[in-house]
Amino acid sequence: MASLSSLFTTLPTTTSSRPPSFSKSSRTSPRFKVSCNASSPDDQKNPNLTLLENVDRRNMLLGLGAGLYGAANLTNIGSALAYPITAPDDVSYCVPARVVKKNDPNPPDTSIRGVACCPPASATAPKPYLLPKFSKLRIRPAAHGVDPDSDYLAKYKAAIAAMKALPDDHPHSWKQQGKVHCAYCNGAYNQEMNGRPDLTLQVHGSSLFFPFHRWYLYFYERILGKLINDPTFALPYWNWDNPTGMMLPAMFEQPGTNGDPRKNPLFDPYRNVGHLPPAIIDLQYAAKERGFNCVDQISTNLSSMYGQMVTSATNTDAFFGTDPNPEIDSKAGTIESGCHTAVHIWVGNPRMPNSEDLGNFYSAGYDPVFYAHHSNVDRMWKIWKDLNPRRNKDPTSYDWLNASYVFYDENEELVRVYNKDCVDTRKMGYDYQRSSIPWVKSRPVPRARNSTVAARSFGGVKKAAEKFEVPVKVDKTVKVLVMRPATKRSDEEKAAATEVLFLNGIKYNGEEFFKLDVLVNDVDDGVETTAASSEFAGTFAQVPHVHGKKMFMTSGAQFGITELLEDIEAEDDKYVLVTLVPKAGAEGATVDEIKIELVPIDN
Ligand code: C2O
Repeated sequence: MASLSSLFTTLPTTTSSRPPSFSKSSRTSPRFKVSCNASSPDDQKNPNLTLLENVDRRNMLLGLGAGLYGAANLTNIGSALAYPITAPDDVSYCVPARVVKKNDPNPPDTSIRGVACCPPASATAPKPYLLPKFSKLRIRPAAHGVDPDSDYLAKYKAAIAAMKALPDDHPHSWKQQGKVHCAYCNGAYNQEMNGRPDLTLQVHGSSLFFPFHRWYLYFYERILGKLINDPTFALPYWNWDNPTGMMLPAMFEQPGTNGDPRKNPLFDPYRNVGHLPPAIIDLQYAAKERGFNCVDQISTNLSSMYGQMVTSATNTDAFFGTDPNPEIDSKAGTIESGCHTAVHIWVGNPRMPNSEDLGNFYSAGYDPVFYAHHSNVDRMWKIWKDLNPRRNKDPTSYDWLNASYVFYDENEELVRVYNKDCVDTRKMGYDYQRSSIPWVKSRPVPRARNSTVAARSFGGVKKAAEKFEVPVKVDKTVKVLVMRPATKRSDEEKAAATEVLFLNGIKYNGEEFFKLDVLVNDVDDGVETTAASSEFAGTFAQVPHVHGKKMFMTSGAQFGITELLEDIEAEDDKYVLVTLVPKAGAEGATVDEIKIELVPIDN
């Protein structure tokens, strides 16, 4: 276990700009200490939320029969036709999204949340967007370092208040901005523009995840700047990857005028009151409290970040997810199905029927925390590229570069934006205030010495296929031996190709929170293996959302394991033992295929 003192290390500088000051005392690098003093649970209760707490509207798990859907045909029939996902020109293509679960005994109040999701119509077709010239970069500050009395925070609150004061049908209004997320993820648009009106458009669970959210925040930020007449305004980011930022940033729960938090424009009543400061976030949150002490929680979080940014994110597809394709189900990237989902679920209110707000896609955009959370997700994209520029590269497929979305810009004009124009934040006019990334020093450590014993002793099974029938049910822990494509790989071979563990065709109930952890050569000794251990290959966790008519969704995951195999000393072995551990919502869930392949690294 790493000691806390070793956690604060600084990464070599990746940006040359000097961040502006976000505090009155003009500190350039705020040093906030995380307090590891546990407080009594009562201290964490927000007195203004008693009403909500008394309404016990717990989520009801729907009983699902297994085998509702047969195994998908996994044959690769990727067409050679270009398929850049294209959002429709005209909002008349938008249909009211279904966001409410079937048979929901307590459906959300649709009048508050505006479930239709469609943006207001525009008289003109979207114009292609040109990145505007700017004289000063907008620097996004780490939220926890912002001084409560700073001008910056006053401006941010004024901007959100102005947005909330606009009439609902204004394209810049709070409601419309929140709806953007719902429209792009709850099936409000179909793929008419791609010649597939039978399919709906979805920006999660694929390589569209990073670019879509980057553009979404980009316009949201410029609209806020416009509302307060400050084109340099930048959103804060929730620095949950650094120990100093592992609590919900104070600004979102600060009392407003008269000491009433509800008067703070950044406040949202639909949050988990058990997770207000000083609770430390769990970046592998499985909708259960783990009862870790603060030091262990922080250190597990850092190892988890290391896993998702370094160990398993060894190729473009693993980090970004794969491109949408009408014939093959796309996969989600390591950050999306890792810390990104964990933060959503950890903040959302479990007492709401759909874990509103952050705990469900349709409602996530109605909590100001959403935008600070996604700022940090966006920052991870930039950091990942800077970590290893030789290997960590943006997707280059035609489909990815030319995928496009439609937004209202700060001048209320409908514009079309492309992935290819959002790969460099500095060209887009913004960057992030620097914060150290101590997780680069948090490489997990093996739990067991020579844990290959686990694989060798597994019932003497020689071939994975003999033990493993597809699709495999993952409602219980499953162990399977998987053959490796090569053993004893040299350094040159490792530099030329990365070894990747694939989970193809993961079918799960998308309307519930689903989390599946993946371990390699785990020893079965009754002790839980966490992300702090090398044996932890990764997690596939998804924010619940209703999308179209299908309750079950299909996706996949992939995790680089070259470094993991070094750490657990399994490089000589022909087989590894893969353990799939369901953590949440796994009823009826299945996996079609588990395999290990070498993925070339092109330089
Ligand atoms: Cu569009 Cu965090 O989700």
